[in-house]
Amino acid sequence: MENGAAQPVIVAIDGPSGTGKSSTSKAVASQLGLSYLDTGAQYRAITWWMVTNGIDTDDPSAIAAAAGKPDIVSGTDPSHPTITVDGADVAAPIRTQEVTSKVSAVSAVAEVRARITELQRSIAATAEQGIVVEGRDIGTTVLPDADLKIFLTASPEARAARRSGELKGADVNATREALIKRDAADSSRKTSPLAKAGDAVEVDTTELTLAQVIECVVTLVEEKRAAK
Ligand code: DC
Repeated sequence: MENGAAQPVIVAIDGPSGTGKSSTSKAVASQLGLSYLDTGAQYRAITWWMVTNGIDTDDPSAIAAAAGKPDIVSGTDPSHPTITVDGADVAAPIRTQEVTSKVSAVSAVAEVRARITELQRSIAATAEQGIVVEGRDIGTTVLPDADLKIFLTASPEARAARRSGELKGADVNATREALIKRDAADSSRKTSPLAKAGDAVEVDTTELTLAQVIECVVTLVEEKRAAK
């Protein structure tokens, strides 16, 4: 780049849960002055709406029929990301065990994915400085032309230990089993499964501190920006 003005940059960060995706994505966006979108929160929000409105989450056709109803809005400031459904703040209720146990089934429904993917693309297209978008299918499906694609991995043990820490003392073995089950469902669904894009940079975070992962991704983004 010649004139020194930052060009908008689109960064896709995918991977299973417990790899440090959210913490990394938020920190990278903050450090580089970019917007931030947590796409898992959007799938959790639509799942929360289904549960709250008595939709049978074991019935894909009932989910498909209701997929267009909730109005989901994401705030993209990385220091204060927000999520509302029909105007109500759902940041806390989307993290309950009930929603977590049902989100894979709801997010496997094609009509849900089409709706949420459209929302994600319009948010990314209007982020003036650029955006870090984290999820499972961002580099493969949502933003296949992203400037930089990162795929974060970590051993199941490391992921379970991190998640148990976040859940304040939850049983590590139970957390590990639940994570493995959710990853298997997310990776094997028909519509845009959790997958590494062919042109993604894979970063194994098992032996890295969060600060090291953030530094690694910031460096990769800066290199891309300089080359734009
Ligand atoms: O990142 P998370 O654990 O909050 O995501 C919750 C669920 O949402 C995850 O189990 C699968 C689904 N998800 C998805 O299908 N596609 C995405 N881009 C992000 C999340």
